[in-house]
Amino acid sequence: MNPGQTQWSAIDEFLSGSLLGSDPVLDGALEASAAAGLPSIQITPCQGKLLQILAQLQGARSILEIGTLGGYSTIWLARALPPSGRLITLEVNQQYAKVAAANISRANLSSIVDLRVGPALESLPSLVAEGHGPFDLIFIDADKETTPDYFLWALKLSCAGSLIIVDNVIRKGALLDDKSTDPAVRGMRRFIQLLGDEHRVRATAIQTVGAKGYDGFAIALVIGDADLTNEKRTGMSADRHRDL
Ligand code: DHB
Ligand code: MG
Repeated sequence: MNPGQTQWSAIDEFLSGSLLGSDPVLDGALEASAAAGLPSIQITPCQGKLLQILAQLQGARSILEIGTLGGYSTIWLARALPPSGRLITLEVNQQYAKVAAANISRANLSSIVDLRVGPALESLPSLVAEGHGPFDLIFIDADKETTPDYFLWALKLSCAGSLIIVDNVIRKGALLDDKSTDPAVRGMRRFIQLLGDEHRVRATAIQTVGAKGYDGFAIALVIGDADLTNEKRTGMSADRHRDL
């Protein structure tokens, strides 16, 4: 660990200690995930609260999460929903999903959260076929290689006003490496290019440091036709945004 990392972690602890208070349910979810051997790659407490604030700002009633892991971010997001709200979360790993289901249950959120086990690229078409969406907020935090595809599915499941958030876009700076053979890095590079070319969103990306090191997230607000007038409308073909 470099000196930067020591300080970033200490400050994350200071901030979560000062701003977040104790939360036995979330702490318990982390403990259960660690005890079951899940990788400790979930979002930090401060990031969880950011997601919750964004969901609340959205007035979200429906949330889609791609990549559940142990359900830690799921709990943060689902807590922003009203009792009639719904969060669908997709997890490919059966063992992770089992741990997540128990964590979600202990958080008393099982009636709001629909946890679906299987490859997201199979679950996402099912969601469309079942008539789910548009979602108010979509959080993409799954395998990085497939992020460009997840983003395109997220757009299909969005409407004007939907917010799409993507974790881990900076990868310790590897994002800049156009020679990288790491599928995760290549995936994120393709995703950022796709995001920049996408006329249906107003997007940005922010670099972050903290307990999880140097990374960052992208945020895309899906915009409607009226909003597009002063955006990158030029050159957009009619059918690019027909299904919005
Ligand atoms: C990894 C995945 C994540 O979603 C994350 O936030 C950090 C690391 C990983 O696969 O290494
Ligand atoms: Mg992540």
